Amino acid sequence: MHRKVISLILSVLLVICSALPAQAAVSDTGFADVSASAWYVEAVTYCRDNGLMSGTGNNNFSPDSTANRAMLVSVLYRQAGSPAVTSTSNFTDVPANAYYKTAVDWGASTGLVSGYGSGRFGSNDPVTRQDLASFLWRAEGRPTPGQTQAFADANLIADYAVSAVNWAREKGIISGKGGNRFDPRGHATRAEMAAMLMRWVQGKGETPSPAPGQGKTLIAYFSCTNNTENIANHIKSALPGADLYEITPQQPYTSADLNYNNSDSRANREQNDPAARPAISGSVSDMSQYDVVFIGYPIWWGQAPKIISTFLESYDFSGKTIIPFCTSGSSPIGSSATNLHSLAPSAGWKDGRRFSGSAAQADVQGWVNSHSF
Ligand SMILES: Cc1cc2nc3c(=O)[nH]c(=O)nc-3n(C[C@H](O)[C@H](O)[C@H](O)COP(=O)(O)O)c2cc1C
Repeated sequence: MHRKVISLILSVLLVICSALPAQAAVSDTGFADVSASAWYVEAVTYCRDNGLMSGTGNNNFSPDSTANRAMLVSVLYRQAGSPAVTSTSNFTDVPANAYYKTAVDWGASTGLVSGYGSGRFGSNDPVTRQDLASFLWRAEGRPTPGQTQAFADANLIADYAVSAVNWAREKGIISGKGGNRFDPRGHATRAEMAAMLMRWVQGKGETPSPAPGQGKTLIAYFSCTNNTENIANHIKSALPGADLYEITPQQPYTSADLNYNNSDSRANREQNDPAARPAISGSVSDMSQYDVVFIGYPIWWGQAPKIISTFLESYDFSGKTIIPFCTSGSSPIGSSATNLHSLAPSAGWKDGRRFSGSAAQADVQGWVNSHSF
């Protein structure tokens, strides 16, 4: 009887212990749609932790979505360390404000991307498995592969991709599918992209080049009458994994300070003084952990309040993506965001968006989800 009880206790302990690592891994993936047992979990977390890929919004990674060419070139650009780009490409389907514009310019300047010859880059076109291999092969400097790989469907591999596919298999970057097929024209998923990327970077024996944050997002905002705060909270609901930070003035603004009808009010004086830098109380703890920073503010006389300049000058935003947002009585965001660019010139600035203080969660969520970061 005694032995039976001990054996029962041991069995229960065993079950509990074997369940623990799985639970820890689930919370580690950080994405609602990436389970700890998925074959790609290591690749997804590797790409996230090294700043190569992040989520698709709403705490998802969308592992089964088809990767598109814009995503792929963006990832390779990040892996190369997001170098400064001076030349511009002229693809008709790469808008100047697209998140992937700089990456495509870089890709075109290095010979990594050449487009389709019709002036199109094919930004939204799916990436085929042979294209994925080709992009990595070109990024590697077009090495000559040692030997031909005998895939059963080798006859389907396009001429331009043959060397790339041979090289990628030789290096263990790609593997075949069932029946020793490579499926060259099959669309690559985001999970497959993450896996090939991880194997490629690890095979090079390199640490990924971006001085990465940890793929984390910060929502920083300044708000005196809660309108901008409402929007910041909506963004937080759309991105539950993001951190929220209120930019708090050392000296709070009273309603007299905010009286825009008084030309001598504190807010008006500051807005008229290019050198004004109202002090901030406290600071963001470890800005380096963030790759994406939303910055929210109320419009004051068409511009961001000067405390936003203080904030931008307080940290190193190099390599981070900044996404501005604002609230106002009626004014558009206008030049308020672009006038901030010179205060964090090494950041990747996205177009900003103005909301009314009472904007619905769904509106804000739709805007957040329109970003790929
Ligand atoms: C000094 C000052 C100047 C303002 N200037 C403008 C303006 O130029 N255009 C506008 O539409 N609203 C203007 N507003 C209104 C605010 O932009 C609006 O109420 C905003 O949503 C406030 O955000 P908050 O509650 O987060 O502080 C101004 C408000 C203040 C206090």
